[in-house]
Amino acid sequence: MNISAAKEKIQEKGFLDIEIDAHLDIFAEIERLKKEKNAIILAHYYQEPDIQDVADYIGDSLGLAQKARETDASIIVFAGVHFMAETAKILNPSKKVLLPDLKAGCSLADSAPAGPFKAFRDKHPDHIVISYINCTAEIKALSDIICTSGNAEKIIESVPKDQPIIFAPDKNLGAYLAKKTGREMVLWNGACMVHEIFSLEKITKLKVRHPQAKIIAHPECEEAVLAVADYIGSTTQLLKYSQTDSSKEYIVATETGILHQMQQASPDKTFIPAPPNNNCACNDCPHMKLNTLEKLYLCMMYEQPEIHMDETLRLAAKKPMDRMLEISKAAGLIG
Ligand code: 13P
Ligand code: SF4
Repeated sequence: MNISAAKEKIQEKGFLDIEIDAHLDIFAEIERLKKEKNAIILAHYYQEPDIQDVADYIGDSLGLAQKARETDASIIVFAGVHFMAETAKILNPSKKVLLPDLKAGCSLADSAPAGPFKAFRDKHPDHIVISYINCTAEIKALSDIICTSGNAEKIIESVPKDQPIIFAPDKNLGAYLAKKTGREMVLWNGACMVHEIFSLEKITKLKVRHPQAKIIAHPECEEAVLAVADYIGSTTQLLKYSQTDSSKEYIVATETGILHQMQQASPDKTFIPAPPNNNCACNDCPHMKLNTLEKLYLCMMYEQPEIHMDETLRLAAKKPMDRMLEISKAAGLIG
């Protein structure tokens, strides 16, 4: 497809569908474009290894939000999913924010549509709304404070004990936090398709074959998986734990992309992806994996697809994000 036809089809396809010369050194081209356009590539740990290798910063949602807010680059190329790129635009609106594939969504964000969520919130008028960052800008705008898996406990603890809380959209993370903080919370019934697929039975069998292995899990996993975990944390926390802990083997219950950094940081250790409950590759996030190195190169080259946002919505969504960053800073979680 030529460039003008590809641009016309961008909403339908989600990306620029342009053939790339097979001899092109895409890695070198991306480096050239970064300098030429003063662009920064921010990538989530669930991106494919090639994308992680060209990124300027790889992180969890909290680290990525902070980096997006403070960067002075002219273009933020967000190698992650839509709500993450949208968050970058909310926090740093003067920058051009690009997403390699606009259709890189999130099953968890999709599980909370704005209309029904507003009705749910309105049924509990005395509750404060804490929403996990994996949600749309519309849900952020309906929330009082945003949290990530890396700061959720501190965010909840910052709310007075007698203040009732709605937690959305992840019921697994919400249940885990309710237990951890001792706070009763009204939970929205959403979940992540990747973290719900792990099989406790298969993890248990794996543990029999690898008795020394520690089970490390993301809090989006179901309660039964979290109950057998030796350590629970955000992607950055899981990575740090795997570097500082003395074990040699780990069963990792989160999206498989994180294994790339774990293995690079600790080449002498063994990392085993926790198996899903069928034979699919469902511990790969199909949304995250929509981004490819080729799409990343094309979006840098032609500066599309770009994230645009209505200013009224942006300001409403920014308020609870700012609150999150303030509390995280006061708690020493970010600089
Ligand atoms: P964190 O990297 O913030 O732990 O989030 C995990 C996730 O599921 C992102 O989509
Ligand atoms: Fe959404 Fe789950 Fe994919 Fe993260 S891993 S982007 S929460 S579907």
